[in-house]
Amino acid sequence: MILEQIMPRGIRRKVNGYTISKNTVGMSPAKVFKLARGNDVLYLKASHKKYEGTTFDVKREKDVLVWLTDKISVPRVIQYEETDDHRFLLMDEVKGRMTSSVTIAPKRVVEIYAESICRLQSIDISQCPFNSGIKYRLSELDYLLKNNLAAVGDFYEGEVPFSQPEELVVYLKTNMDEEDLVFSHGDICDSNIIISKDSQDINGYIDWGRGGKADRWYDIAFCVGSIREDLGNEDYIKYFFDLLGIEPDWAKITYYLWLDELF
Ligand SMILES: Nc1ncnc2c1ncn2[C@@H]1O[C@H](COP(=O)(O)OP(=O)(O)O)[C@@H](O)[C@H]1O
Ligand SMILES: [Mg+2]
Repeated sequence: MILEQIMPRGIRRKVNGYTISKNTVGMSPAKVFKLARGNDVLYLKASHKKYEGTTFDVKREKDVLVWLTDKISVPRVIQYEETDDHRFLLMDEVKGRMTSSVTIAPKRVVEIYAESICRLQSIDISQCPFNSGIKYRLSELDYLLKNNLAAVGDFYEGEVPFSQPEELVVYLKTNMDEEDLVFSHGDICDSNIIISKDSQDINGYIDWGRGGKADRWYDIAFCVGSIREDLGNEDYIKYFFDLLGIEPDWAKITYYLWLDELF
């Protein structure tokens, strides 16, 4: 994507004079660009219209960000604009570093995840218009698979006990459980939590395309997945649940980790 050629006029005007660099951290189909002018840093995120209505759509992310203003620390939306093919979200920077790029004690990482779960699940959802529940996510998955947009490559590299993506989808559809809805980030991981380098306090959260009402175990499952993958010691999982003051529900954790497998 040659950004300069497709950037809509209003956004082009806002970023005039900024140096643009493409971000290579993210894994999602949305393209992310960092724009810098002196100490002033902005981020531009663009998604193709073929992702319209999915959790990769930056229009959805923009709406979630606006709703979350003053509820939890998130980037401020500066401008949102569309062209025929793309949608663009220009936002300010959450200052600090991704948790993944700070040298940090494993225990502190676990504390950051537990604190994040508490903060997210304390958000009042009584007026929340965003549904990130299983039914929506499975219909999104149907759309992604049908249009060759699902992360099928990751599926084959993953560790799920299914040989074909379709088998996993059947499993997910036939094993839906009742949902205990809370506010969910939807992709809580160490590259989406921004902390202060020195104090290691949480400064804010980014990457909100999947934000909305979802089961209480959804974000917890992602934290468990990350703790396991990055820290590799079951004692840290125990510490995580001690901090949360609950016992792990392994059936739910596994279900939600599998749900994420094709995204
Ligand atoms: N508003 C922001 N403030 C600070 N860093 C950001 C911001 N938006 C994006 N980034 C940086 O760009 C990376 C990718 O953006 P993200 O929204 O997480 O996209 P992806 O969906 O590709 O993961 C982040 O991990 C972070 O390093
Ligand atoms: Mg991200």
